[in-house]
Amino acid sequence: MKEGIIQSICKPLSGTIAVPGDKSISHRAIIFAALAEGKTTITNFLESEDCLRTIAAFQAMGVHIQRSGTTVFVESGGLEALQEPETPIYFGNSGTTARLMIGLLAGLPFFTVVHGDSSLSKRPMNRVVEPLRQMGANIDGRDKGNLLPLAIRGSKLKAIDYQLPVKSAQVKSALLLAGLISEGEMKITEKALTRDHTENMLQAFGADILINQKQITIKAKQALQPVDVHVPGDISSAAFFLAAGAVVPHSSIVLEQVGINFSRSGILEVLEAMGANVIIDQVSEKAGEQFGRLTINHAALQGTIIEGDIIPRLIDEIPVIALLATQAKGETIIRDAAELRVKETDRIAAVADVLTTLGAHITTLEDGMIIQGSTTLHGGKVSSYHDHRIVMMAAVAGLIATEEVIIDDISSTAISYPNFFQDLASIQS
Ligand code: S3P
Repeated sequence: MKEGIIQSICKPLSGTIAVPGDKSISHRAIIFAALAEGKTTITNFLESEDCLRTIAAFQAMGVHIQRSGTTVFVESGGLEALQEPETPIYFGNSGTTARLMIGLLAGLPFFTVVHGDSSLSKRPMNRVVEPLRQMGANIDGRDKGNLLPLAIRGSKLKAIDYQLPVKSAQVKSALLLAGLISEGEMKITEKALTRDHTENMLQAFGADILINQKQITIKAKQALQPVDVHVPGDISSAAFFLAAGAVVPHSSIVLEQVGINFSRSGILEVLEAMGANVIIDQVSEKAGEQFGRLTINHAALQGTIIEGDIIPRLIDEIPVIALLATQAKGETIIRDAAELRVKETDRIAAVADVLTTLGAHITTLEDGMIIQGSTTLHGGKVSSYHDHRIVMMAAVAGLIATEEVIIDDISSTAISYPNFFQDLASIQS
């Protein structure tokens, strides 16, 4: 436990930050580098607890992975060379490692036991286990295989046609990985676009996949070719500075080389709808991923409605969007976001508790919340819920609160943004 005390600031925020590499893309870069035969170099890799879990999982299967700061060197004998791990694989807090690795391990010819921390052990795995069982997977665990730890006896899988019942990139990606090593042609259809980094990276590593609107077809038994990956800055981490710049008067913050893939950039549309002043320039593209420079300037905000297909494009940003809404004039409604209930913590309950403790007016819904703004936040002591995104949201709230905000435990920032507090300090001139 490490308590954090955030003092309200009286000066504007200003400066330039290069937020760390994207968490989702860092996981996938390790996975595809390990599946390709040969050497891959990954630059701007996110050195955070979650991504290190994915590295450790492949090291346990015999893949050579070395790190030098944010550069990672992977040398693999390819899919066929992966070996049975001798001890259970620990996924820590990482839902992405868990879901994607379960999809892969189900089709590999060995036995694995996988487990996680107390938060991950409460999160539903059925969403991947059930379709994998339809493909012939042999998986058992607590609650009939819904909860970690799971025991996976790898087997030959058969491709299926699958309509995703949940809007989840983790489930889609788990099934794409299973499809890659199964017999036949796998078809996956999603109800709304979720982050498409797996599809982009499969294409970059030379896989034959076909994307037709919301349907993805992947042929089995394809050998991947190594290709170097440069990870863009994480828009989900940038979101905290976008919010800080928008709400602290007279601020101007520049965020360099941020990933602005359409399937991730819903927050930029919400900021615009709320009246924020965001400038996007220096746009470039590498391996299907768009990068851009974002400049946020303080502006008066107004409430908005956030619902439907945009939700998966900003799902991890909803805590900090809720904070923005407390500073916006009028009502903000967030709905169709029931997935928040099964994140690292129940983020609808956690966001409402933390912001209400600081004086916000929030009504929770089963699938979202209604926020009445604008409110002057006062200080107080709040729980982190051991959730990195709740800590960073509370820290931004602390900048504009009238008294100090004390967060009981800030250590979970190590999950996605280990240097968050140093970066925040660097723009408080
Ligand atoms: C992720 C997908 C999202 C997101 C998570 C990372 C990914 O989860 O919330 O932080 O890397 O695929 P769901 O797929 O459960 O929506």
